[in-house]
Amino acid sequence: MALKFMTADEAAKFVHHNDNVGFSGFTPAGCPKVIPAAIARHAKSEHEAGRPFQIGVFTGASTGDRLDGELARAEAIKFRTPYQSNKDLRALINAGKVDYNDMHLSMLAQEIRYGFLGKIDIAIVEAADVTEDGEIIPTTGVGIAPTICRLADKIIVELNDKHPKEIRGMHDIAELQDPPHRGTIDIVDSHDRVGADCIKVDPAKIVAVVKTSQPNDDSAFAPLDEVTKAIGANVAKFFEQEMAAGRLPKEFLPVQSGVGNVANAVLGAMGDSEQIPAFNVYTEVIQDSVIKLMKKGKVKFASGCSLSVSREVIQDIYAHLDFFKDKLLLRPLEYSNNPEVARRIGVIAINTALEADIYGNINSTHVMGTKMMNGIGGSGDFTRSGYLSIFTTPSVAKNGDISCFVPMVSHLDHSEHSVKIIISEYGIADLRGKSPRQRAEEIINNVVHPDYRQLLRDYLAVSKQGQTKVNLDACFEFHRKFQETGSMKNADFSPYKK
Ligand code: COA
Repeated sequence: MALKFMTADEAAKFVHHNDNVGFSGFTPAGCPKVIPAAIARHAKSEHEAGRPFQIGVFTGASTGDRLDGELARAEAIKFRTPYQSNKDLRALINAGKVDYNDMHLSMLAQEIRYGFLGKIDIAIVEAADVTEDGEIIPTTGVGIAPTICRLADKIIVELNDKHPKEIRGMHDIAELQDPPHRGTIDIVDSHDRVGADCIKVDPAKIVAVVKTSQPNDDSAFAPLDEVTKAIGANVAKFFEQEMAAGRLPKEFLPVQSGVGNVANAVLGAMGDSEQIPAFNVYTEVIQDSVIKLMKKGKVKFASGCSLSVSREVIQDIYAHLDFFKDKLLLRPLEYSNNPEVARRIGVIAINTALEADIYGNINSTHVMGTKMMNGIGGSGDFTRSGYLSIFTTPSVAKNGDISCFVPMVSHLDHSEHSVKIIISEYGIADLRGKSPRQRAEEIINNVVHPDYRQLLRDYLAVSKQGQTKVNLDACFEFHRKFQETGSMKNADFSPYKK
């Protein structure tokens, strides 16, 4: 069947008010670049004509300004899931103007299939290639593309020639069967493949192909500062100690690491350590640091859902496809983040917290318990199932006026039952096998900023004895004082003394 080439504005007309639209990709990598802006233009003209136009947006995760930003600014989003990190969209979510469902990334495709989230009307996918018989080669991010392509009535392909057709083979495309027919996933090593090299669709569903030549957004990282460097060094030190104690196999285990500067610092420090052997990566987002370590021989193989690297690094990969093609594999989210696989292969999960409490509960998402930052992402997929679950965080935020360690988290994403190790620039808190009382000591002594250690001890002194010492009146004193006075340092537990 001949492909129907057209402009982005023509293709955008296939999207109607109230449609649920699924987009390929994960982070800006693999997301359509020009069709979302065309939908935003269409939304604005509909609004100007006095007609409503808003859509449900289903993605792999965060997408970048050319998707979330454009649609948010056009007030064209009524519902959004899962992870996001765009400032304009975040503002609408926190103003209560967009309904945002924050869920574990591994679960999105199945929840769509189960019918929990409504019907997907249209799928818009970025491709390196598309054939007349319905073979779509994704680019650098897969996300939920196979599921939305199968379930949608209509598919629009954004064919982007910045990605060579020769990346065919770098993807492992499959979809899980739903219970009671789900079998085991045959991945026992990061490089195992279970699927095809493309997404196969009914070609009659491809209603439009839009040609583009748009590079991925450039994911620039801030240079490492003293705090991120110290966190990275402490993570590497922890692994060295674990190797020496025989608690990690000599071959090491596959590493999942979050996104951002801390993750880059952690991988950098692991790469510099002579005691840590070359390792595999089984993660969701593959960043520059992984590619750097691959070139040094320190990372042997990386499996992920998204290759979210800087423009310089993607050009390097495409220029040396022979070297990288058998070392990289991009899978749909439900495979890259699958808890069954993470538990089986013994993933070491390393994620970043916004705040932690003295018992090891983690808030990754809500500032002061109320404002959404980004979302839980894949952190829960790996934290609950990993061989070791580590959280990193600077000890303080906002020039020291916020302690990232508080008496009780203001929102809970990962509970004390899943979190094993917390690392800040000050050191390592090892929570394994410890009671709540022992965990509080470990955290206060090793990872809390010195300015806040006595305050947290004061809190414990006014708390009720039990399995977990808590004072229900005083447990949010840190947050309350920050909101009232601008600094958690003004917390005062003396009024709570009996
Ligand atoms: N209370 C309030 N604000 C806080 C805070 C706290 N306890 N801790 C940090 N912040 C603020 C920082 O000051 C900063 O604010 P700014 O943007 O105004 O400068 C912002 O939160 C981000 O902090 P930063 O230290 O730059 O963190 P980051 O970029 O490393 O991101 C998370 C940290 C938690 C937001 C991020 O890792 C995330 O979204 N995690 C959840 C999803 C996840 O783990 N994904 C990975 C799975 S692979």
